[in-house]
Amino acid sequence: AKIHHHDFVVQETPVKRLCNTRNRITVNGMFPGPTLEVNNGDTLVVNVVNKGQYNVTIHWHGVRQMRTGWADGPEFVTQCPIRPGGSYTYRFTIQGQEGTLWWHAHSAWLRATVYGPLIIHPQQGSSYPFPTPTRETPIILGEWWDANPIEVLRQATQTGGTPNVSDAYTINGQPGDLYNCSTQDTVVIPVASGETNLLRVINAALNQQLFFTVANHKLTVVGADASYTKPFTTTVLMLGPGQTTDVLITADQPPARYYMAARAYNSAQGAPFDNTTTTAILQYKSNNSLPSTPPVSPSSLPAYNDTNTATAFSTAFRSRTNVQLSNDIDENLFFTVGLGLFNCPPGANTASNCQAPNGTRFTASMNNVSFGLPSNFSLLQAHQQSIPGVFTIDFPATPAVQFDYTGNVSRSLWQPVRSTKLYKLKYGSRVQLVLQGTGIFTAENHPIHLHGYDFYIVAQGFGNFNPKTDASKFNLVDPPLRNTVGVPVKGWAVIRFVADNPGVWLMHCHLDVHLNWGLGMAFLVENGFGELQSLQTPPPDLPLC
Ligand code: C2O
Repeated sequence: AKIHHHDFVVQETPVKRLCNTRNRITVNGMFPGPTLEVNNGDTLVVNVVNKGQYNVTIHWHGVRQMRTGWADGPEFVTQCPIRPGGSYTYRFTIQGQEGTLWWHAHSAWLRATVYGPLIIHPQQGSSYPFPTPTRETPIILGEWWDANPIEVLRQATQTGGTPNVSDAYTINGQPGDLYNCSTQDTVVIPVASGETNLLRVINAALNQQLFFTVANHKLTVVGADASYTKPFTTTVLMLGPGQTTDVLITADQPPARYYMAARAYNSAQGAPFDNTTTTAILQYKSNNSLPSTPPVSPSSLPAYNDTNTATAFSTAFRSRTNVQLSNDIDENLFFTVGLGLFNCPPGANTASNCQAPNGTRFTASMNNVSFGLPSNFSLLQAHQQSIPGVFTIDFPATPAVQFDYTGNVSRSLWQPVRSTKLYKLKYGSRVQLVLQGTGIFTAENHPIHLHGYDFYIVAQGFGNFNPKTDASKFNLVDPPLRNTVGVPVKGWAVIRFVADNPGVWLMHCHLDVHLNWGLGMAFLVENGFGELQSLQTPPPDLPLC
């Protein structure tokens, strides 16, 4: 196994998109940031130097970080931010994961421009469980704002309303030729007739789930979130922010130029959506007269609210090898997941600070707890050094009141409390967690991401989860192993994991605006027996608050 050293210089960089040049925070002056490539079993040592004017942290999305929670990255969860002028070296080993992950800033909305692919090749000496592709191409989907994303977030936080939607979706950082001033820079992906390539599709968008398609080509899914899947063929992918999907694509069409396209899937009724489409071009190399021919358009892209297509795709995943889970469960948890409205706080100005409906502020919660973070310590440091007063460990295992979660719920029943509550898990405990979407204020699909773990998705469905009838639908044979699950709109998902990684692990909606409103919580996983079941000691350069 190798050790890979990288320097990440976080710095302000002029970036030209949509006709204008703006200064944005990047890594090493690149947008998207550098692609990291390793083999399963390798170690990464990334020295992050902050030369920008904002606090920053880097999260290695989906990396299990066994015993190395100090390198996970979420601000105020596993570390304090790297201040301007500061630095921090992240050190971690990839253990048992193969496929596509990514890295991104985990501080305010810096991840709008601070992200890149993390590609994990098979362990040295082994190969893919599918024919070796001729070429591999990362396809990283994102969002671009003309305004500074940090300011967009600041404004939303101040007004209590919704942040402005982005001005473009992007493929590998480029909006593509359907947007103004973007044709020249549209991403072109060359292929030769007959070859099979691996596309590593990543949704790095801040606030949008995205459909993805390639005109006239079939896509064979072989992996997701750095776990292999049983192959299945589709024409459309749907990824929530945080999710990755590896697909094989064979250049079996007449030589020409074909559009790759992504656009929003937004299940929220009445919520604003951006109906624009980002494009890149799959270009056959064998055709000399290509540049003048217009690209072939996809015959159809699903509509922004096509939940049927999204559901058919997300329920098609099966783990490549059978796992046969047992039904022995130590922790049977049930968390509601959804949005809500806070009453305007006393003393606030309704017109300027409470711009959600009826003079309220938007909020979001799990089990009625809207997650707030400390600012004086990271949760992990407070846990490791037993610092009192930073968090409490009374996150509820089930909602305090039961009701028709997906029906119309009165706000008096559901007025969340903002606090920092953790749920404690014994080392090695077998966890089953029902994530139940709610219909409070607005129902939508929530991509829920758990740090430090992969989990099996054993079932998902619509309506209220029913433990009596829905347990019979569990797939305990070959459930997909993921780090981010789309909890269906007005529906539920059931996940399973074994708490074998000690530390403090954030779980949150990967739509960043929902995280800012409090849609998250954290698990505190205790040490087990001996060094190999315990969190490592913090690195000497760990940033403190
Ligand atoms: Cu990809 Cu908490 O993040």
